[in-house]
Amino acid sequence: MNNYVAIYDGIGEKFDQAISKASEREVEVNTFFHMLGDVNNKRVLDLACGHGFFARQMIERGADEVVGVDISSEMIKLAINDSLDVPNLQYHVHDVALMPHLGSFDLVSAVWLLCYADSEETLVQMLVNIHNSLLPGGRLIAYTSNPDFRLGICNFTRYGLTILSEEPIEGGFSCDAQFVTEPPVPFHFYRLSREVYERAIRRAGFSHFEWVVPMIPQKHLDEFGEAYWYDFQRNCDQVGLVCQK
Ligand SMILES: C[S@@+](CC[C@H](N)C(=O)[O-])C[C@H]1O[C@@H](n2cnc3c(N)ncnc32)[C@H](O)[C@@H]1O
Repeated sequence: MNNYVAIYDGIGEKFDQAISKASEREVEVNTFFHMLGDVNNKRVLDLACGHGFFARQMIERGADEVVGVDISSEMIKLAINDSLDVPNLQYHVHDVALMPHLGSFDLVSAVWLLCYADSEETLVQMLVNIHNSLLPGGRLIAYTSNPDFRLGICNFTRYGLTILSEEPIEGGFSCDAQFVTEPPVPFHFYRLSREVYERAIRRAGFSHFEWVVPMIPQKHLDEFGEAYWYDFQRNCDQVGLVCQK
């Protein structure tokens, strides 16, 4: 896992540049808040919180408290700096696969966390820690790499991310990619299979789960046109996932 510390410590502020240029970001945000629903009076654990984008938005939308966790101390430094005036928000540096118990939460959010699990075992470790952090009936709201994506069909450059290469590993693919920024920012992630995800979810003890197809906001369909989103819809690299304890 140390690999990821180094990668995101090096990315730092460039992540904000990447998401502000990527048309897929609005789809992630739209789909995430649709899956999350009403966050009023809820306690939320935001995993792989990065520079705190979703953590701050959840406080703005009425969450009682948000605890953000990220493996990169550089990303947490940015999150703290960007959240100085935001109440009821705290941040910690941990690897989710190894994190201590931080309390019991109504919701756990994890936007682009599970795609850093390099094997079924790591995915199970993350999901067990998430399960242990949820109150009975609590939900995990995740967004991750879509197991059904096939690089041979199309790349995702026009949406903000280029997959440079991928290598088959047990249970999925190990992928080298870069954010479409100037200069490009390289990173590494994993696309584990649907079978591996679903077995890991059950092994971690979740009672129900549901895959959620990313939802392009109507204003982006209107602005960019249907043809622009054709590849995104036929061979999407990302997917939502909701798991209930
Ligand atoms: C693409 S960024 C997403 C940040 C944030 N969720 C967002 O969408 O704005 C991925 C984040 O995952 C973090 N990360 C990767 N592996 C992790 C792990 N094992 N535990 C905690 N954070 C991790 C990285 O440091 C990075 O900040």
